[in-house]
Formats: sequence, structure tokens, C-alpha cells
Amino acid sequence: MPEIFINGQSVQAEPNQTVIEAAVANGIEMAYFCWHPQLSIAGNCRICAIQVEGRSWVEIACNMPVSEGLRVQTDSELVNEYRKSVMQLLTLNHPVDCGICDKAGECKLQDYHFQYNGAPSLSRDPKLRLTKFHPLSERIVLDNERCILCSRCVRFTHEVSKSKSLGITKRGDASVVRATEDGSFNDDPYSDNVIDLCPVGALLSRSFFYKSRVWYLQPTPSVCPRCARGCTVQLWHRKPEWKLNALDARHNVSIERVTPLENAAVNGPWICNVGRDLGSFFERPRAEQAMTNGSPVDLPLAIEHARRLIESAKRPIALLSNWGSNEELDAFERALGARFEAFYKIDRVPEPGEVVEDDLLIRADKNPNTAAARTRFAPFEGDAALDDATDLLLVWGEGLDFTRVPRGAQVILLGAWLHTDNAQADVFIPISIQTERRGHYTNFEGVVSAFELCVAKKATVADAEALFAALAAPPGSK
Ligand code: SF4
Ligand code: SF4
Ligand code: FES
Repeated sequence: MPEIFINGQSVQAEPNQTVIEAAVANGIEMAYFCWHPQLSIAGNCRICAIQVEGRSWVEIACNMPVSEGLRVQTDSELVNEYRKSVMQLLTLNHPVDCGICDKAGECKLQDYHFQYNGAPSLSRDPKLRLTKFHPLSERIVLDNERCILCSRCVRFTHEVSKSKSLGITKRGDASVVRATEDGSFNDDPYSDNVIDLCPVGALLSRSFFYKSRVWYLQPTPSVCPRCARGCTVQLWHRKPEWKLNALDARHNVSIERVTPLENAAVNGPWICNVGRDLGSFFERPRAEQAMTNGSPVDLPLAIEHARRLIESAKRPIALLSNWGSNEELDAFERALGARFEAFYKIDRVPEPGEVVEDDLLIRADKNPNTAAARTRFAPFEGDAALDDATDLLLVWGEGLDFTRVPRGAQVILLGAWLHTDNAQADVFIPISIQTERRGHYTNFEGVVSAFELCVAKKATVADAEALFAALAAPPGSK
């Protein structure tokens, strides 16, 4: 392992590392815009300047291989002057419209300006005007005045998503990022990753456009439930101290944006666009009212009614949700596993137009916890499990065609979303969704990931884990 010295500090590097990789791996701060650990080296922003001791010029750390005994400075007088001039150049035509930019608060250009430059522009020429709201795709808007031409977005589409749908056209200060004319950037299921990759506020999400300042939001670690990959994500929602009182109160409980949380064992630093849209997925109309025979009742009454049905059933069958967490599946097994013949069902199948499967992340199984359900229960493989002797069906989650319920069987339905089937059940009990509870999912490769609570559930809604214990108690129990 080569030993190198950064600002006199000894660093043990890997043989094939660059200086920037060795620095980052050892927690040494290094400025960079165009470098990204998962992309090829472009070396075009020049902000990662370093000076090799004994040399009278600066070089770039992102393209310098380590070698035994290499000694570099990141803060010599020459490097500081050079980095300052790079910041002057990068902001030469930049509009510095941070006050209205969605990237403000997470922008490297802002941070480095204050850290390494801090001086007003030296130029007396008017700034170049470029397109402000260029529609790069149906999901992404490009502000060319803010773009520093680092080419991260272009390299992503060539090297990671492989759509090859972005490029840089023209030359000099007329250079602009553009999508190919065949519309393939629109069809790239990973396109929104370029929004995170962009080190400045040039690539903007239409769904998050002017929606919130990022410092009003807090990220909660979670798992994307939209396929069996189970990508690790952050769900961004409003901080309690910035709760809206006079404006639209729905913003206090909604998921305002979704970003990847890097996890080498699952998704690396990427997620697909379906995961980005989790906010609208979770905002589908909710079922929050318990019912018996289609009429609203209080939750305890519905639970009591369900207990009586369970107690009197001769052949009760349970169809369990592969959206249930590991804890909820275990809770069912513990509380009701001996009372029911239980199968797990497939709650969701690919939607029309959805990418079914690919080589990067997306899996054909559009459910988060099939792997855990499979180790605990048999699969529900159709009507063979449901015969005319079935007199009680407990259905948890989505995906059952109600025409398949055996004639004469009574139904207890546990659901989170408004659906016409809810009123058909003898007992309907509304249950919480993932953002209202904690738990774990097991992905298709056996990796267990945790999701945390974002917002509290309503009192009229049950948590499945506690509900199963309540249903197992004899009728009349408190
Ligand atoms: S749009 Fe952003 S990521 Fe793409 S080249 Fe410009 S600054 Fe870099
Ligand atoms: S690949 Fe699957 S788990 Fe990952 S973000 Fe997309 S839908 Fe969600
Ligand atoms: S990070 Fe090294 S040149 Fe851009």
C-alpha cells in the first residue's frame, strides 16, 4: 500500500487510487465538481487543484495516481490563488440567482465560493444570457446559465443508465447541455439521478420545482417499496419546527421529495424514477374509516366484530401482504398463525408502461418483501387454496380480485387505500402505510433494510403489527 502525504499528513492509499480517492477515503477534505466516484474522470472543472511539493505549478488531484512517497499540498499559496481564479472563472457568467434556486442550501458552487473565493466578480463585462427554463425532459428543467459544464450528467447517461441521451453542443461560452432529439432522455428510467449529480442548480426536478427550501425539510431513512430491490432512500418531509399553520397544511405531512441514500449492498448511489415518485404514490386517497358491512363504525367495534368472525370460523384462510414488514409478518405468525391457514399473495404487478426489469436496479417483482413472506408462508397460487368450505377470508393489502372470494365466505379486509372493495368486506379495518411506522424489509438478495417513521398515523387507523395481537384476543377483551 503506497504511503502518500497530503499537507504533511500520512495517508495509506490503495495501489490504483488517485490522490482524490485516497483523500476522500481518509476523510481529508478536497474540493471537486466534475469528479464522481462512480463516473469516469473528466478533469474539466480544475477545482481539485493540488501542488506536488518541489514543483512550481498546480495539477489536478482527480487525475493524479498515487505513488509511494508522493507529497502534495491542497492549501499552498499557489493552490489557493489558483482555486480562487477557478471560482472567478466558473462564476463569470453564472447568474448567482441563489435566492430563487432549488439547489440553494446544498450547492457546491455556493459553498466553494465562500470557502475559496468570497470576492466580487473581477469582470466588468455583462454576463452571458443563456436559456433559463430549457425543458430537458418531462421530468427535468435545465437552467443553462447555472451550468458549469462539468459533464457529470452527460457521463451518467453514457456510463450508468446507458441511454446516451445527453451531450454538450457548440463550443466555448456557447456550449450547452442538450438531450438527443430521439427523446431517449424522456424514456431513461434513471434520468432523475442527474439532478443529484449536478453540483449546481442547473438541473431541476419539475416535481420539486419551487416547492420548498431544503432547510425546511428533514430526510428520514427509508426503503423504496416499489420493487424487490428495496433501494435505500431518504424521504424528505417538513420539519416540525417549520410546520405551516396558515398555508396548505397537507405540506406538513407529505413527502416533498425522494433522494437515494447511498448503500453499496443494495443500490449504490442511484435509484430509479419510480422511487423518486414515492411521494405521489403515498399520497393516493387513504382509507381512514373502519366499516362493518359497508357502514362506518369506530375502530374498536370493527376489531370486536372481526374477533367474533375469527372465533366462529371453521375454515379460516388468510391472504397476507408482501408489503408487510418483517415485524408484521412475524406478528401475524405469532398471533394468528395457528388459527389460519395462511398464504402470502402478490399485492402489485407491473403497471402499464412501467419498466419490468433491467440490468441496473429495477426488478420484475414490484413488491418490497416477497423474500421475507416466502420464508414464512406458502404462496397463494390461485383458487386451489379457496374452496367452498372456506368460511372466513382475512385479506391483508391489495391485489385480490374479490370475484374470487368463495360464495358464503365472510371477509375481513385490512387496507390502507380507498377502494370500492372496502365496502364489500364484512369488516374493513384501515391500516397504516410505510411512512407512518418503523420496520424492515428483506430484498430479493436477502439484504435487510430498515425504514423509519416520517409522520404519525391517524387514531382511526390501525398498525398491522398491533392489530394482529388484538385480533387474536377472545371477543370482549379490552
Ligand atoms: S447540467 Fe449540471 S451536471 Fe450537467 S454539465 Fe451542467 S453543471 Fe454539470
Ligand atoms: S429500483 Fe425498485 S426499489 Fe429501487 S427505486 Fe426503483 S422501484 Fe424503488
Ligand atoms: S474534480 Fe478534478 S478537475 Fe474537476
